[in-house]
Amino acid sequence: MDMDKLVSLCKRRGFIFQSSEIYGGINGFWDYGPLGVELKKNIKEAWWQDMVRNPPPGPDGQEISMVGVDCAIIMNPKTWEASGHVGGFADPMVDCKESKMRYRFDQLFVIKSQTDSGANLMFAFTPDPASEEKAIKALAKHLKAKPPLSGVHKKALKDIPVSEFQRVVGPDAQEAGTLTEPRQFNLMFKTYVGAVEDPSAVAYLRPETAQGIFVNYRNVLDSTRLKLPFGIAQVGKAFRNEINPRNYTFRSREFEQMEIEFFCHPAESMKWYQYWRDVRIQWYTRLGIKSDRLRPREQTPEERAHYSVGTVDIEYLFPFADEPQELEGVAHRSDYDLNAHMKMSGKDMSYFDEDAWERDKASRDTNSFKEWLKKKPSAEAIGKYQFVPHVIEPSAGADRFTLAVLCEAYAEDTIEGETRTVMRFHPRLAPIKAAVLPLVNKEGMPEIAEKLYRDLKKHFNVFYDDKGAVGRRYRRQDEAGTPFCITIDGQTLQDQTVTLRDRDTLKQERVPLAEVEQQIRAKLTA
Ligand code: GAP
Repeated sequence: MDMDKLVSLCKRRGFIFQSSEIYGGINGFWDYGPLGVELKKNIKEAWWQDMVRNPPPGPDGQEISMVGVDCAIIMNPKTWEASGHVGGFADPMVDCKESKMRYRFDQLFVIKSQTDSGANLMFAFTPDPASEEKAIKALAKHLKAKPPLSGVHKKALKDIPVSEFQRVVGPDAQEAGTLTEPRQFNLMFKTYVGAVEDPSAVAYLRPETAQGIFVNYRNVLDSTRLKLPFGIAQVGKAFRNEINPRNYTFRSREFEQMEIEFFCHPAESMKWYQYWRDVRIQWYTRLGIKSDRLRPREQTPEERAHYSVGTVDIEYLFPFADEPQELEGVAHRSDYDLNAHMKMSGKDMSYFDEDAWERDKASRDTNSFKEWLKKKPSAEAIGKYQFVPHVIEPSAGADRFTLAVLCEAYAEDTIEGETRTVMRFHPRLAPIKAAVLPLVNKEGMPEIAEKLYRDLKKHFNVFYDDKGAVGRRYRRQDEAGTPFCITIDGQTLQDQTVTLRDRDTLKQERVPLAEVEQQIRAKLTA
């Protein structure tokens, strides 16, 4: 699939626009147009319905307890100290004093002559093949040789001592020695709360929705009387000052996450880790992502975030990449976050397992936990009843999945010798569910069509189109990904039936007017 064609369709049909485009845009920020907002909304609603209101049964067939929250984007900055984001949510960056470009240190490489005695230049490049080619050409010129070069050596810049950087020519520079030593660059956007712009007023735009859930864990527990295991879910904006926003909306600076923190007994955490991994893969498959483009991949210990004892990335093979890229991470966060917030806030985040306490009552001479603690039971014995829950976190990106859905849906086929572009969205996700088309604008057809349109729009997002030949109207709906077109024609006037056209099979069946709503509903939930 040609990514340029998709990007152009997204702009032309109103799925995605560059943010503040009339002023030249702003790198890493995107706006959703009339079709895009419906698509993304359907994705978020499908997630909320399938994960929060009606999650699949647990590994032993049990009901899953899940509730939602909607937290503020700006939180007390102590949250981000406790979570490790102030100290650790940073990438080491290298600046080029000549080109003024900034690069991720771990994504810079150099090419040099193998016989380099320490006097030759090294040429830096990024993972982009064009950048590598440029570095090879520059090295060839420097060595007065012709590409393809033999006897050259590639190394990661991080394996070159900083004292040798004066021999390195930056990827976009002419002179050597213009790269700075690596410096930590925090990805959180800073702002000030209140009238005074001093360090005491600094706050951050949240870089993930997860922490809003952790800091509300006690509130949710106390207000709902939920019992372990249970999950808390949130959908909302997150912000990261990404160094290198790229690949359309894939890596943006403002994006939306759909996150669950699932709290469970430490001894059961691996079981729930497996459960969420499987549930989340199945969810993507059910919504139309073909399994051969979807790949779960267990992260290596070196890749994992500081809080994780195990993470599986659910990846999708986007057309712009050679390797599948992360759509969602399912992380086993252990008790890292609750412990960190307990330490920073001084508030108790432990859980008392009343059921376990009651179950064992015959084996004790007191039913008061406080009294029992006075007998100095072992830490292991206490841990049976009171412990800090472990957390499994399925963390998905709403924008990333929207992009995957767009890529997966895009297709071109030929109908009666004409090429058609069609977005084959799963009907549940399609921005417009059905279009109502009077065959001609006379003979009583518009009246029936308008009534049907008004009836249907109470239930679904439907579109009315009476402009142009019906074939062209079908094409317009195919490009928007509308799964069904309803045409009111001459026969409708005689027998009160309409044609229902299927976007994918192109089959048209006659359906009684009175049954249209019910038939569409059945197809949407199939
Ligand atoms: N709470 C865990 C967490 O935030 P993450 O892997 O950093 O983990 C989770 O982010 C998901 O959020 C990713 O799998 C991705 O779908 C989405 N995401 C992260 N950074 C993003 C960005 N810069 N642009 C778009 N989506 C992003």
